[in-house]
Amino acid sequence: MTGMARRTVVVTGGSSGIGLAAAVALAGAGDEVVLLDRLRAAAGPAGPARIVTTGSLAEAWGPLDVDRPAAPVARYRVRWLAYGASKQANLLFTVEAARRFAPLGVVPTCFFPGLVQTRFGRSSPLFSLAKTIPLLFRTPEQGADTLVWLATDDEALVPGGYFAFRAPFAATPRSTDPDRARRLWSASLRAVGLPAVSGPQ
Ligand SMILES: NC(=O)c1ccc[n+]([C@@H]2O[C@H](COP(=O)([O-])OP(=O)(O)OC[C@H]3O[C@@H](n4cnc5c(N)ncnc54)[C@H](OP(=O)(O)O)[C@@H]3O)[C@@H](O)[C@H]2O)c1
Repeated sequence: MTGMARRTVVVTGGSSGIGLAAAVALAGAGDEVVLLDRLRAAAGPAGPARIVTTGSLAEAWGPLDVDRPAAPVARYRVRWLAYGASKQANLLFTVEAARRFAPLGVVPTCFFPGLVQTRFGRSSPLFSLAKTIPLLFRTPEQGADTLVWLATDDEALVPGGYFAFRAPFAATPRSTDPDRARRLWSASLRAVGLPAVSGPQ
């Protein structure tokens, strides 16, 4: 932080795991870590504001219905499919948020943290078994590394970018398609009762 302004960083999921490790790293570096959305207010002369969303390899098998994301359809009853759908939604959110917010000085990105030893997947026998394989899983601090990099580094100012291990990472076309991203955004607005014209278009 030497010679740099103190940043305001919003972390969700900061009570454990990767989010907690990132919050600790950012607070340790002198940043103000908060839970409220002050993104647009934070974008200014000191630099762009940033949104970093957590993705996963599971996006590849997400059976997301972008027009009815909350529909109680049978395909969401299998938890790993539901998880894949949620991660596909995270990537699509990043794509559409970048289209809408980048002109306002807000840079949304998404990242895959690798396989990380956290509370994640603890109710899955298979995932819990995988965690016992030596060297397969990373520490929460290692998992948070790309998040912290995306939140702070000038090289990481790539609106709509998807990253892993501080490098560009490939996602499936279904998770990066601009039309699907737009439709999911519209469906999300409908789901929470906001008009279709809410926010920047
Ligand atoms: N660990 C991995 O191998 C791995 C791999 C790929 C992607 N990821 C992703 O990394 C992210 C962080 O997970 P983690 O591994 O750090 O797991 P974690 O240790 O279980 O942490 C999850 C965090 O999310 C919060 N959270 C869960 N449900 C929430 C909800 N409905 N609303 C608000 N906050 C909620 C939890 O808060 P509470 O304590 O209040 O529940 C906790 O702070 C997740 O998006 C996960 O999908 C993890």
